[in-house]
Amino acid sequence: MSKAKIIGIGSYFPKKVLTNKDLEKIVDTSDEWIITRTGIKERRVAEKDEYSSDMGYKAALEALKDANISPKDIDFILVATLTPDYMFPSTACLIQEKLGAENAAALDIQAACSGYIYALSIAKAFIEQKVYKNILIVATEKLSSITDYEDRSTCILFGDAANACVVSLEGKGLEIDSIYLGADGKQANLLILPAGGSKKPASLETIKNKEHFIKMDGREVFKHAVRRMQFAIKKCLEIASLKEEDITWLIPHQANERIIEAIAKRFSHLSNEKIVKEIVQKYGNTSASSVGLALDLLKKQNKLKDKDKLLLTVFGAGFTWGSCILTNNLE
Ligand code: ACO
Repeated sequence: MSKAKIIGIGSYFPKKVLTNKDLEKIVDTSDEWIITRTGIKERRVAEKDEYSSDMGYKAALEALKDANISPKDIDFILVATLTPDYMFPSTACLIQEKLGAENAAALDIQAACSGYIYALSIAKAFIEQKVYKNILIVATEKLSSITDYEDRSTCILFGDAANACVVSLEGKGLEIDSIYLGADGKQANLLILPAGGSKKPASLETIKNKEHFIKMDGREVFKHAVRRMQFAIKKCLEIASLKEEDITWLIPHQANERIIEAIAKRFSHLSNEKIVKEIVQKYGNTSASSVGLALDLLKKQNKLKDKDKLLLTVFGAGFTWGSCILTNNLE
């Protein structure tokens, strides 16, 4: 059976740069602390009137151009985001309208930072079952809208950006070989946006308690992230009947360079030069967008060769996690 593949990729970064030096002026932190603990040097922040749908739309335009198809050829739009423009309607509907993708159904999915691989799994199933021909995935985050810039333990981490890809059976590109997904709702409170949902609608109290901002137990999240991504990598290799040494590039969730290094240590055949880290260094943690941005970076740097095998792995709130293996098929 032919496999679904990514036939076009696009990215968008807001222009405004927020450096560690800028953060030194806002909270009690230092460039040195941030770099040592996270590897992050700077991140991007969207304009006040620039939303997740706007950034996603721009990334989508680039992905469609790269895939050489028009918005009318898209029959399904999947948006992965934890910062939708609204609770409803979905950001996917807003992007559908901006693109003029009038033949597309539209759906948001919520798997936090794991959204990109969760979206790929849905797209793969629909494409390979021939339910849809061309699926547009958009991962877009305006994390600055839920970041507390008075909380030094979180505000140093997050940035805004969008990434998009087109998944199809036709054309050349990155075949989606195997996917493994996992979740554990017992850990929901360790990384959470407490208010704004049906449990705690916005009130004077939720605003006073700053419950519309990301709350995170950094140390616990760190431990789970390493353990879960390590497990997801192993499972995905097993499903694909591959070994570590068969992997050309490892693209881990770009949350923290130390998390990436801790994972790398557990895989002796995945040397440093095979692991993508540039996105977290330059753009911080961009949640659902992060692995797609790293994939696009490799592509734009002309580093992807025919038959390369790429292993993507993600971890996010929920907790959710997952891995997928892509084969670059240029024939
Ligand atoms: N600048 C200076 N000092 C700080 C800062 C800061 N920005 N933030 C915290 N500190 C202090 C703490 O107050 C603490 O001080 P104390 O010892 O006097 O109490 C000290 O630094 C150590 O704090 P820790 O929280 O133990 O620091 P740690 O080494 O764990 O680093 C960090 C914190 C960077 C948040 C780390 O835990 C981490 O990266 N965790 C994972 C976060 C993550 O990736 N989340 C997202 C994953 S899922 C998703 O993407 C949504």
